[in-house]
Amino acid sequence: MPPVPPFFLRSEYLINPLGLSTAAPRFSWILESAGRASRQTAYQVIVSPDAGFLERGIGDYWDSGRAESNRTWGIAYGGVPLWSGKVYFWKVRWWDEGGSVSPWSEPASFEMGLLQERDWKAKWISPQKTVEFSSRGNVTLGVSSGDFVQCLGIYLRREFEVKEKIRRARVYVCGLGYYELRLNGRKVGDRVLEPAQTDYNKAALYSVFDITSEVREKNALGVILGNGRHIKAYGYGRPRLILQVHLERENELVERVITDEDWKTGYGAVLENGIYLGERTDSRLEQDGWDEPCFDDSSWPNAEVVAGPNPVSRPMPPIRVTDRLAPRKMWSPRPEVHVFDFGQNFSGWVRLRVSGPRGRQIKVRHAELLQPDGTLNVLPNQNAEAEDVFILKGRGQEVFEPRFTYHGFRYAEVTGFPGQPTLDNLEGCFVHSDVPKTGDFRCSHELLNRIHRNILWGQLSNLMSIPTDCPQRDERQGWLGDAHLAAEEAILNFDMAAFYSHFLEEIRLAQKEDGSLPDAVPPYVEKLYPADPAWGIAYLEIAWLLYFYYGDDRILLRHYVCLKRYVDHLGRNAEGQIILKLGKYGDWCSPGEVAPKRTPLELTSTWSYYRAAVLLSRFAEALGRTDDVRACARLAEGIKTAFNDRFLRDDQYTAVRVGPADKSPSQTSNVLPLALDMVPPDKKRLVLERLLESVVMEWDCHPDTGILGARYLLDVLTQAGYGQTAFRVATQKSYPGWGYMVEQGATTLWERWENLTGSGMNSHNHIMLGSIDSWFYRVIAGLRCDAPAWGMMTVRPPLITGLTDAAAEVSTMRGKAAVAWHREARLFELRVEVPVGAEAMVHFPLVEGAAMIEESGSLIWKAGLASGETPGVSFLKNDGEYVLFRVGSGVYAFRGSSCT
Ligand code: BGC
Repeated sequence: MPPVPPFFLRSEYLINPLGLSTAAPRFSWILESAGRASRQTAYQVIVSPDAGFLERGIGDYWDSGRAESNRTWGIAYGGVPLWSGKVYFWKVRWWDEGGSVSPWSEPASFEMGLLQERDWKAKWISPQKTVEFSSRGNVTLGVSSGDFVQCLGIYLRREFEVKEKIRRARVYVCGLGYYELRLNGRKVGDRVLEPAQTDYNKAALYSVFDITSEVREKNALGVILGNGRHIKAYGYGRPRLILQVHLERENELVERVITDEDWKTGYGAVLENGIYLGERTDSRLEQDGWDEPCFDDSSWPNAEVVAGPNPVSRPMPPIRVTDRLAPRKMWSPRPEVHVFDFGQNFSGWVRLRVSGPRGRQIKVRHAELLQPDGTLNVLPNQNAEAEDVFILKGRGQEVFEPRFTYHGFRYAEVTGFPGQPTLDNLEGCFVHSDVPKTGDFRCSHELLNRIHRNILWGQLSNLMSIPTDCPQRDERQGWLGDAHLAAEEAILNFDMAAFYSHFLEEIRLAQKEDGSLPDAVPPYVEKLYPADPAWGIAYLEIAWLLYFYYGDDRILLRHYVCLKRYVDHLGRNAEGQIILKLGKYGDWCSPGEVAPKRTPLELTSTWSYYRAAVLLSRFAEALGRTDDVRACARLAEGIKTAFNDRFLRDDQYTAVRVGPADKSPSQTSNVLPLALDMVPPDKKRLVLERLLESVVMEWDCHPDTGILGARYLLDVLTQAGYGQTAFRVATQKSYPGWGYMVEQGATTLWERWENLTGSGMNSHNHIMLGSIDSWFYRVIAGLRCDAPAWGMMTVRPPLITGLTDAAAEVSTMRGKAAVAWHREARLFELRVEVPVGAEAMVHFPLVEGAAMIEESGSLIWKAGLASGETPGVSFLKNDGEYVLFRVGSGVYAFRGSSCT
């Protein structure tokens, strides 16, 4: 039997993408094999712009020939140059370990974007006049009340005719800050809140839509522009648009429609709009047919050509409405004030269905929390007004949802509703970057499942084309600390490759000549420079995770010089290898405080410098730059020595001498050096004991860490052999802890360990403490990636009392990696799935009295000795606690029991 053809063909991580901008797109595919220890020994990829050629097996643009390689991802196109705007088809076949070749895969396609600046004939346009309004701003970034001067919704239109038969039609479009594109009366595509956030001075992202089936003889393009982040307070001007339509007849470009002075500009229903403000829509102002052909736009002034950034394309999962939530309950705490509870904190907006008199104004306010009297508590929204206003046109049923704003909320308050609303009048739209779900975790401990579930909601709520801190208040920024602390969790749960590639690109663009980075990206204000090192290392952390989990070596090549520049910047700010001045946030948000009082900023900053040097040396190694590896190793050694000299006092790390007044040094100070193995060997035990003393004795198995310490606390305890203690910390229902949030009714993670309800720093939908989720995968389920792109994985179910089952699976670049285990009295069952081309170290736990282990019914180990030969499984050792096997790809069912 020949091997099964490759499937799940992707180009640059996406299925049949449009608008690729790289000269050599990278291909990937997934293999499956019924056998074991299967791997690809060679592949052949062919590429052609002609589907017919491809069908006949002809790769006239590229034929890789039989390429000896076990790689099934990151295979870069190596043929003749690709053309702007053209579609290419490709397929692949593979040779397995026995030399048998598979049939060809089904074809896949990719389409190039506009590769050269000169491909853009369109000009940036904007109305000659706009109407401004002002709203509250963002205090954290120093742009406060009244500073957010923005424009009312802007409408642009243009008609065009198509006389010949069109084979292909595409529109390339970018509208800043946000746009909605309409063609012949309908919205094009299902994306919302486009384009992705960038620093618009450096790049603006255009999208490509296939409009072939929507083009008729007479056509009208309509675009509504909203403010988004393209506002004066951030150094940009009024909204603007660039758009280009390509109409093609049999591969030949017949016509282009471009934005220029001939476009008309007007107004419509969308009025005030702002990310924090909300949106005001007056349906009475809707100009019927404005986005359809034959509309009389003679009173609409012409647009003017304005300056604008270079449009670039970075295809990635767009923001969409991914779910519609029905409200669970509704009540009216006061006459005509109706509160709806969606039962879940989430990012997005409300869709309202209503009929009522013309001019009736309905207001929707959003909040994460309630006041004791059942009204909204909007205090955590801080400066964000978060109000949507809809004014009825009064013609039967009307449906409203905002276009250019989003909110973070669980409760919505509706006032002005004509009559008594019911649950059917409202729907909650869950809005976020629509990254594919690629991981799953569950276990027998319900509280951990609940925490995991809250993390998923929190993570998605904070993916808005960049990783954000929160969706509700006047921030929603790409804070780097929050981003990197949750990145591994995000990667285990979702396909983050294209999303983070975009974010890394923005970090790179945000870097200054001197190598410094901002605390948040895109950096809308200057005061974000230079970053707290614990935030800045996001650049290295996320680059590393993309390389490690997705095997993305192009990321390393692309960013290496800039990553190095960042480490050099840290070096220039170090005095005797100690970073004294750059710290601002450090171990942010530990119990009872926002800014850390017990974990010194110099300690977290210097530790981050060390971490950066270690990561850089790994990049250098992956790139084969041996001189750099040596230099980084020396640098790391120097930082470590300085760190220990300065912060290690007797048996613990602290900057403050521990006296009677302060008996409680921070857990984080000890966790961080333990996590990176920085502690001198003779002190390790002591430092660990101090940490345990704090966790177990002083804090009764609760975390006393901020977000940095929380990222590593459970791993450090587990690795030191205190998995049971880590489990206790993770499953605490009392304050402070993840379980406490669940007990208090949280449906996402909070910013603070405390259940705060005032106007301070207390978002109820922050993701930075979500790092615990990767511990769930790695330790509770026991599934760990050990080599780039899951080439080697470790399966090691924990021996923890109080857990009987756990399972996790991850769709990797090679296919599915999965583990599921079940424990019952003297029986232990373990199912393992290893994708083609990967291997796993399987640590099979010896539960009490275990005397034999079978795999798929064959005895493989008995009474301490390997027994028999099972295909794909080799016995390595027995350390008394676990029996270690090495396995190749395939599905394995291990079973350990006490008797035959
Ligand atoms: C954000 C944090 C962020 C921090 C940095 C806060 O306001 O919400 O999550 O990392 O600022 O100071």
